[in-house]
Amino acid sequence: MSAVVVEQKFLLDCRAIGKSFGGVAALEKVDFDLQPSEVHGLVGCNGAGKSTLMKILAGAYPDHDGSVLIDGREVSLSSPREAQACGIAMVYQELSGIGALSVAENLFLGRQPTRAGRIDWGTMRRQAQDFLSEMQIEVDVRRRMDRFPLVIRQMVEIARGLHSGARVLILDEPTSALSPPETRRLFELIRQLKRNGVAVIFISHFLEDVLEICDRVTVLKDGRKVSTSFAADLTKAEVISRMLGRAVGQVGNLPHGDEAVKLPPPLASLAALRVAGLTREGEFNDVSFDVAPGECVGLYGFVGAGHQELAHAVAGAASVDAGSVSLDQSALPSGDVSTAVRRGIVMVAADRAKTLVRRSSIARNTTLAHLRRLMGEWLYRRREHAVVQPLLEQVGCRPARPELLAGNLSGGNQQKVVLAKWLLGPVRVLVLEEPTRGMDVGAKDEVMRLVAGLKKSGAAVVLASTEPELVLAHADRILVFQRGRIAHEFSGEDVRKADLLRWA
Ligand SMILES: Nc1ncnc2c1ncn2[C@@H]1O[C@H](COP(=O)(O)OP(=O)(O)OP(=O)(O)O)[C@@H](O)[C@H]1O
Ligand SMILES: [Mg+2]
Repeated sequence: MSAVVVEQKFLLDCRAIGKSFGGVAALEKVDFDLQPSEVHGLVGCNGAGKSTLMKILAGAYPDHDGSVLIDGREVSLSSPREAQACGIAMVYQELSGIGALSVAENLFLGRQPTRAGRIDWGTMRRQAQDFLSEMQIEVDVRRRMDRFPLVIRQMVEIARGLHSGARVLILDEPTSALSPPETRRLFELIRQLKRNGVAVIFISHFLEDVLEICDRVTVLKDGRKVSTSFAADLTKAEVISRMLGRAVGQVGNLPHGDEAVKLPPPLASLAALRVAGLTREGEFNDVSFDVAPGECVGLYGFVGAGHQELAHAVAGAASVDAGSVSLDQSALPSGDVSTAVRRGIVMVAADRAKTLVRRSSIARNTTLAHLRRLMGEWLYRRREHAVVQPLLEQVGCRPARPELLAGNLSGGNQQKVVLAKWLLGPVRVLVLEEPTRGMDVGAKDEVMRLVAGLKKSGAAVVLASTEPELVLAHADRILVFQRGRIAHEFSGEDVRKADLLRWA
């Protein structure tokens, strides 16, 4: 390792970074730098190379091209351990904390204090509690990690990075599953870290968040750097046009600011889906609503309001304590996904980790749900690929190659595969939970266009989301959830984002 001395200006300086997968370049000659106390945003379309660049910094790809300097000295990031030793910590898009362990154990993972060769639980708990209190994260460190809401789990992972001495913290899409108050809380934590000299790399598709919290913003496109600018000099439209590489008028037909959206008059047709008195202890309580064919009902609420859990129950992915879900006046057994799927009720869930088989090909992921119905037709892999190929193109999956492993796709493209799966079979009811999470602005449009197509062909759509813009743009009626109950229904009237937030 050679020690090259340069101006001591940068905490981190990446020069001409490159990385290819099987001969295909994911990154080419990317320069990226970071100053102490800086929050540096990294944006770009799905597959632009953001996560790959960060994984290089986290020591996951030792075979990259180019060099990385820390405090002006070249370092070799050839393993996660070395990255950690260089003061780099990463909180992954899919959180890596261990749910079944306590908060304290997660904080000390792999570095537990010992006494006489055994884990010193007392010291560990005390130190964990003190460390988190210092960061103003007040939790009982003895409780299991999976008992806490996502924002807390995320903060504990950030704390873990800092506790191991990190000066560079990488957050890959940290706000995509947070409610507005939780996002505020995370931002407060980031500002606190800034004051302590920690530098943060912030990856997100929520450009408002990026422009608010970041000092500088770097745009990647197709593995190359487009620009690095001060956030204060940028607008959302400018960032989008750099991401897409062309001037744009209105990208994403999502309502901006606080314009009112006019909901259509309620449909007079008979309900396809009927949810009656649905209850699951501690999650949702006595919820009833109908959805007509060709109608999209939006379920809006903050994380934990119960609408997301309810969506799972409607699709048969979770059992209920009381109430019923029926399709065409015939009840569905509770908690029985296969019956639901057979009758045409399908779900796109937010948690990709659960719905995507990362080690299987894209093709197999797409056809998996239909294997029983289509058995015999799928004798030849080539045939499977021939069916899947056009679907991937339809959902805009990049690369659209059925034979690739699904787990190697970028985050947003994984979500498109999950959606493609359902385009293969007949759909009566489409249940969507955060269908566009992790997608770039263009991809969001493409996917929701597909949903609109299904709706037009008569599918009843249930759209559960914590993104007010998404619900406002696509729902015909909106039910706002609060503490497991419908707090308000908007139908056939003008609605604004502020109205939704008020009822949530
Ligand atoms: N392990 C891998 N094997 C093969 N190809 C990969 C692998 N990891 C990433 N790629 C490819 O490299 C490119 C960049 O992917 P990356 O995950 O960095 O995108 P991203 O900018 O993080 O996108 P997103 O916003 O969807 O998360 C994509 O074309 C992706 O398919
Ligand atoms: Mg990514």
